[in-house]
Amino acid sequence: MTDQQDGEKATNPMELYEKLAAQGDQVRTLKTAKADKDEIEAAVQLLLKLKVEYKQASGQDYKAGCPPSENSGGAYNGPAADGADDQDTVDPWNVSTTNAKGVDYDKLIVRFGSSKINQELVDRIGRVTGRRPHHFLRRGIFFSHRDMHQVLDAYEKHKSFYLYTGRGPSSEAMHVGHLIPFIFTKWLQDVFDIPLVIQLTDDEKYLWKDLSIEDCQRFAIENTRDIIACGFDVNKTFIFSDLEYMGSSPEFFRNVVKVQKHVTFNQVKGIFGFTDSDCIGKISFPATQAAPAFSNSFPEIFGSRKDTQCLIPCAIDQDPYFRMTRDVAPRIGYPKPALMHSTFFPALQGAQTKMSASDANSSIFLTDTPKQIKNKINKYAFSGGKDTVEEHRKYGGNTEVDVSYMYLTFFMEDDERLEKIRQDYASGTLLTGELKKILIETLQPIIAQHQERRKRVTDETVKQFMTPRPLNFKI
Ligand code: TYM
Repeated sequence: MTDQQDGEKATNPMELYEKLAAQGDQVRTLKTAKADKDEIEAAVQLLLKLKVEYKQASGQDYKAGCPPSENSGGAYNGPAADGADDQDTVDPWNVSTTNAKGVDYDKLIVRFGSSKINQELVDRIGRVTGRRPHHFLRRGIFFSHRDMHQVLDAYEKHKSFYLYTGRGPSSEAMHVGHLIPFIFTKWLQDVFDIPLVIQLTDDEKYLWKDLSIEDCQRFAIENTRDIIACGFDVNKTFIFSDLEYMGSSPEFFRNVVKVQKHVTFNQVKGIFGFTDSDCIGKISFPATQAAPAFSNSFPEIFGSRKDTQCLIPCAIDQDPYFRMTRDVAPRIGYPKPALMHSTFFPALQGAQTKMSASDANSSIFLTDTPKQIKNKINKYAFSGGKDTVEEHRKYGGNTEVDVSYMYLTFFMEDDERLEKIRQDYASGTLLTGELKKILIETLQPIIAQHQERRKRVTDETVKQFMTPRPLNFKI
């Protein structure tokens, strides 16, 4: 189906929504101008007719400022400052909740209209790959998806797919939370044996932060070193900076423009909460994050193929970009990208917010020394333990709010040992200081090994990964 044909569909909830918004404006204008009574009546009748059509197409009542959700056949799911419920805010810039256990991810699945990664899907991934599912899957750290069964159905019929993930280079040092999607993406690359593209949105960071273009480009290269240190296969991975690659790839830019044409200002306002005083760069940026989800954006890798399915692993804060992408994809003749979403690696101070680079004390950075890691955990890691040793021994600690325990669920691979720690802490046998010591001893070598691998990443290696070129894979 061509863009044009699809664009003309009268039953598309988003188009009806836009017509309704315009008709509402028209009625207001006529009333303000004290127009002829019959003319106003005709405009009101048309408005009512559109409301009925909208309800039939979307299953929802029309509400000004609330575009239809993806589930209803349109794309959008309310404002980006998306109260998953009253206590949770999750969008690409803010993650916060008043609940000490963290965001309610089950409610978020309902709110965002994605699907839960249940035991059946985890088992299926194990069967299809012939590998034990990663502990991020076994423990529900990657908890939500879109269209994973479709990806696996196709893979079983020898139709492969590619991976796409990214990073917004806002500073030189990444934190441990940023590693989560990259660790998981590396595992997916290994077990499915497929190509991967990684986007560094240096343009995004220039538009959003008080940084120079030169700094953003420099951070992109520094972050690339950390990403390479996660162990990606150079023969199957292309890493690119937007500021560098976009200007040299007409195919990529064409897709950016196609997306730009199919999303209105009203829609991005609804999804991302942009206001009239946001710069126009921000307003069009989502199209740049959408483009890598379409395989013909990378002719060096996929030639002119536009039908290679994309799978995007990321934390769920990035989902608004991809709800938009999935809505646009069929309208410009491309498959919708599939997604796998992770929970957030919490801030040291507690699961009410995610670990964030903008607050140095909330984060353990990949550049931290063993001593800094130890001090930060001992000083800041929120404890679910009781106030005194006596009380702790008597009542036990609360692993549901204890940040050290939460971090171990991300980084301790041994299921049995983790379960023993949980039981011992909950029963009061294990004290907070002892739990923190276990975490320190688990994290220090992981970060030290990362730093070792990063040191071995030469300028030449960076150049290799960042050169547009054919990759080695069968699709
Ligand atoms: P950025 O740089 O904010 O984050 C990079 C990746 O890390 C995830 N993430 C986290 N995961 C777990 N716990 C945390 N505390 C945490 N903080 C961040 C993010 O979800 C992301 O997957 N606009 C994007 C860059 C981007 C991108 C993409 C990301 C471009 N294309 C495709 C994912 C997929 C950004 O600024 O990410």
